[in-house]
Amino acid sequence: MTTATATADLERDLAKVLDHLDRNAAGRVEELFDLLRIPSVSTLPDRTGDVRRAGERVRDALARAGLEARLFETPRHPIVHAEWKGAPGRPTVLVYGHYDVQPAEPLELWKTPAFEPDVRDGNIYARGATDDKGQMYAWVKAAAAWMEACGRLPVNVKFLIEGEEEIGSPNLEPFLHEQKDLLAADCVLISDTDQFAEGIPAITYSLRGLLYTEIRVHGPSRDLHSGQFGGSLRNPANALCEIIAGLKDPKTGRVLVDGFYDRVRPIEAWEREQLAKLPFDEPHYRADLAVPELYGEEGFSTLERRWCRPTLDVNGIFGGFQGPGAKTIIPAWAGAKVSMRLVADQKASEIAKGFERTVMRLAQEGVRVEVKGIGDGSDPVLVPIDTPWVQAAKRAVRRGFGADPIFKREGGSIPIAITFKRLLGMDSVFVGYGLPDDGAHSPNEKMKLEDYHRGTRTSAILLAEVAGSRD
Ligand code: BES
Ligand code: MN
Ligand code: MN
Repeated sequence: MTTATATADLERDLAKVLDHLDRNAAGRVEELFDLLRIPSVSTLPDRTGDVRRAGERVRDALARAGLEARLFETPRHPIVHAEWKGAPGRPTVLVYGHYDVQPAEPLELWKTPAFEPDVRDGNIYARGATDDKGQMYAWVKAAAAWMEACGRLPVNVKFLIEGEEEIGSPNLEPFLHEQKDLLAADCVLISDTDQFAEGIPAITYSLRGLLYTEIRVHGPSRDLHSGQFGGSLRNPANALCEIIAGLKDPKTGRVLVDGFYDRVRPIEAWEREQLAKLPFDEPHYRADLAVPELYGEEGFSTLERRWCRPTLDVNGIFGGFQGPGAKTIIPAWAGAKVSMRLVADQKASEIAKGFERTVMRLAQEGVRVEVKGIGDGSDPVLVPIDTPWVQAAKRAVRRGFGADPIFKREGGSIPIAITFKRLLGMDSVFVGYGLPDDGAHSPNEKMKLEDYHRGTRTSAILLAEVAGSRD
C-alpha cells in the first residue's frame, strides 16, 4: 500500500472514531462517574476492597472494548494490564495511568461529597476527577471507540493502570522487572499532568523526583516538668528546630544538604525563554495562595522555582504538647517529615545519603537524632522533545484541543516514569488533559467536562498520529 493510501485510510477510520465519540458522550460520562463513585484510596488500609473494585472496573472496561485484559496481584493493590496486538509492523504504545486516589479529607470542605460525582458549571466534581481517573479513562474510552467504530486499533496498544501511584508505586517496579516482555513498547503515553491554562494545552517534558524522610529527635526518657528540669538538659523540640533551620539558607533559599546541587542540570537558554514567554500572572498566583509575598531560591523566577529547581520542605512537625492551653513540659521527643523534590540529574539515593550526613552533622550533643527514609524515593525524569512520539502528541493536541501545546516542566512526580526509561528503555510522553486549578489532592477536585471529552478525542487522534508517524 502506498503511503498516501495508508494515510487516507487512517484518516477515514479516525473520522469514524471521532464521530462515534461525539455520539456517545453521555455514556462515557456515566461510566466515568461509576468509577469515581469507588473510594479507591490506596493509602488507607480500610479501602483495600474499594481499590480492588476500581481496578476490576477498569479491567472490565478494557475487556469489553475487546482488549485482552487482566488483573495482576501484588502484595498490596492489583495492577491492570491489557493489550491488543493486531497491528504487526506498526508501533506499540504503552498507556500508563492510575486508578487510585488520594484521601478526600478534610471532608467538611467539600461542597458535594467526594465520592458522589456532581456536575456544576461544566465541571465534574469528585476525588480523582482529574487525578487520575478522568484523564486515564479518556484513554480507555478512546481505545474502546476505535474498537467499536473500526473493529481495530491503528497501532498496538498496551495498558498499564496501577492502583499504587499515590503511595509511590512500591510494587510496580518489581512488576516491570518481572514483565519486561509483556510491557515492551516503543513509548509510554501518560495523561496525569495538566495544561498550562484554559486554552493553552501543554506537553510536559520533565517531572521532579521525590525523597521523603522523617527526622526524630529523642531527649529524656519521659516528658519532664519544664520548671523543675528546664535549663539542665537539651530540649529535643528546640534541637529539631535548629536542625531544620540548618538545612536551608534563609536568605538565598538554597538547600544546605551536602552535595545537593552537584548534579542539578542548569536550565537551558531555550527553556528560560519559553518560560518567560508564558502568560503567568504572578500577582494572581500570589493572591490565590493568600500569602503576603512569594519566596524561593534567589536568582530564579517562580515558574523556574516550581518546575526546574529542587526544593526541601517540612511537611509536618510534631511532638510535645499539642492541645489547647498550656502544659509546662520538656518533651521526650520531637519529629518532622521532610521531603525534597529533585530535578534532573539528581539521584534520590545520593541525596538521601547527603541528607543523613548533613542532619547528623547538625545533631547536637545531649539528644539522639535519627533519620528514616519513607518510601524508596524517586528520581526525576526529563525526556527529549524531538522524538516522533512527542511530535505525534503535539499534532494530536493541536487537533484535539484546537491549539498548539506549549512545552513545560512540572513540579509534581510520577515515580515510575524514570523506571520506564531505565528498565525498558522507553521515553514517556506526558499529555495533560487537566487544568492546574483542578484541585488535585485538594477538596472539591474537579475536571472540566469539556476537557474529559477533548482528552478522549486527543487520545483517539494520538493513536492515529503514532500510526502515521511510521508509515
Ligand atoms: N498526577 C500527579 C503528579 C503531578 C502532580 C503531575 C502535579 C503534574 C502536576 C501524581 O498523581 C502525584 O500526585 N504524584 C505524587 C507522587 C508521590 C505520592 C510519590 C506527588 O507528586 O506528590
Ligand atoms: Mn496522578
Ligand atoms: Mn496525585
